[in-house]
Amino acid sequence: MGTKTSRPAALLMSILLLVLLAGCGKKEAETQDGPVIGFSQLGSESAWRLGNTADMERAAREHHFTLMLENAQQKQANQIAAIRSFIAYQVDVIVFAPIVEDGWANVLQEARDAGIPVIMIDRVINVADSSLYDAYVGPDHYYEGVEAANYLLKKADEMGKDKINVVEISGTEGSSPMLRRHQGFRERLAGDGRFTFLETVSGDFLRSKGRECMKTLLSRYGDKIDVLYSHNDAMTLGALEVMEEQGYTPGKDIVVISVDGEQAAIDRLKEGAINCVVECTPLFGDAVMDIAGQMAAGGEYPRNTHIQGACFTEYDDLDDLPPRGY
Ligand code: AHR
Repeated sequence: MGTKTSRPAALLMSILLLVLLAGCGKKEAETQDGPVIGFSQLGSESAWRLGNTADMERAAREHHFTLMLENAQQKQANQIAAIRSFIAYQVDVIVFAPIVEDGWANVLQEARDAGIPVIMIDRVINVADSSLYDAYVGPDHYYEGVEAANYLLKKADEMGKDKINVVEISGTEGSSPMLRRHQGFRERLAGDGRFTFLETVSGDFLRSKGRECMKTLLSRYGDKIDVLYSHNDAMTLGALEVMEEQGYTPGKDIVVISVDGEQAAIDRLKEGAINCVVECTPLFGDAVMDIAGQMAAGGEYPRNTHIQGACFTEYDDLDDLPPRGY
């Protein structure tokens, strides 16, 4: 750890930063008496992301930590600039949700040189020296892809067809959920001759792009499509609209598999329009703040905290599922 400014001075600087940020349209934070956490959120692309941001804010408040939140609006350059601003103001802990896997080594080295511990959340990165971050809290996106494939294997037996055509709408290019959800799905289905993968198109985790992607896929393959595997609920909900506009009955004409588990998707699963939703919960703010508190106090903390999700399918009784909270 490097030399750090005293707590009152650091607090004063963070208050000054908050005043400056307020002028730039950034999120103002309540100043608390606990550690100061700089949090670079990657954007607001989905209900999942909004739920994650809200849960981080709630958890920080309940832990009496000051949360300096910056929303990068889907741009890695904004995230790097935010992390540099957190370093300049000597926050106690940096938390970031990396939009893509590559390109983080330099800024993380700067955080290390400044003696500020880093928690990576939600997504993972690709760095030669993994000690450049101190802890990870979030889901296992590879396992989510495997879970989606496990459902499809069961469904395929029920369908009883020799040939099953699959299309895929993937998330943000170069992001770990896009790469790992694709990889886990394909590796689990590899060697099963029933499946043909017609095409994968990128929908950037956005509902509007999910619509565009489904239009493209239907115009290219039409009735040949048996299965849609979509990397998040936002894109799935957009794709369902297009299927319905074009006279398809999703869930029957096209088997639909999604990831996240937001309320709107669970509602459509219960209606029969979606067949399977692999859960990826964004509600892990308490785990992040517990670790941040330990880091700030110089205590011990786990390096990896994987948040395990469920898998909700058409075969389950979901009547008693509590409201999702995102
Ligand atoms: O990184 C998690 C993914 O990002 C969620 O599946 C998606 O909804 C969000 O955009």
